Amino acid sequence: MSPYTLAIDIGGSGIKALVLNAVGEAVTPRERQATPHPAQPAPILEIIDALAQGKTYDRVSVGFPGVVCQGVIITAANLHPDWLGVNLQQILQERLGVPVRVINDADMQGYGAIQGRGVELVITLGTGVGSALFTQGHLVPNLELGHHPFRKNATYEACLGHVALKRDGVRKWNQRLEKALAQWHKLFYYDWLYLGGGNAKHINFDLPPQVKTVPNVAGLLGGIALWRDEP
Ligand code: BGC
Repeated sequence: MSPYTLAIDIGGSGIKALVLNAVGEAVTPRERQATPHPAQPAPILEIIDALAQGKTYDRVSVGFPGVVCQGVIITAANLHPDWLGVNLQQILQERLGVPVRVINDADMQGYGAIQGRGVELVITLGTGVGSALFTQGHLVPNLELGHHPFRKNATYEACLGHVALKRDGVRKWNQRLEKALAQWHKLFYYDWLYLGGGNAKHINFDLPPQVKTVPNVAGLLGGIALWRDEP
């Protein structure tokens, strides 16, 4: 069932890919390759080429872990600074020879998680802390809550990112997450909050009724929503 969309999720620790059919169902298994370090554009582009190799697709959706405006990388907190100013959308379009759309990774994950009603907040807990806000299914792009102050002059990402989890342990990380959830509720009065990302599996407290975890694959399934304006 065409058109087929190759969805790629660039993360701080892994680059994931799968192909979606016209209704957004995965038609290939999810593949993952480790993110190279230093995470400069050239080696990451090579991994994307390798993941695309041998797959059949008509267009490509990419989630990038930073601010993305019109396909251009504006920030890349957990990758190499060489990314700044790179027009990833144009480069991939030239390399892969099909239309490409690039958005923030949490924004793409959000599209794969939301129901499209009310105020929905998506937080991803991985290498960094990603965020996406939707009202009635409409995205407010590049929210970047992770870099806003949380406590003791530290940002949410400094308290809840992967480095903090490893350094301070699961117990403290969970205590902080519980406090952050309360704060985000007062900030947005969301109807639903979805928690995704590789570290969501470490959550060990009972989530409030409006908060749910979503599987990591949502990061790729959201790729179909980038083409909703196409016939
Ligand atoms: C970046 C966000 C990204 C998040 C998760 C943060 O450091 O600034 O753009 O969504 O990490 O990858």
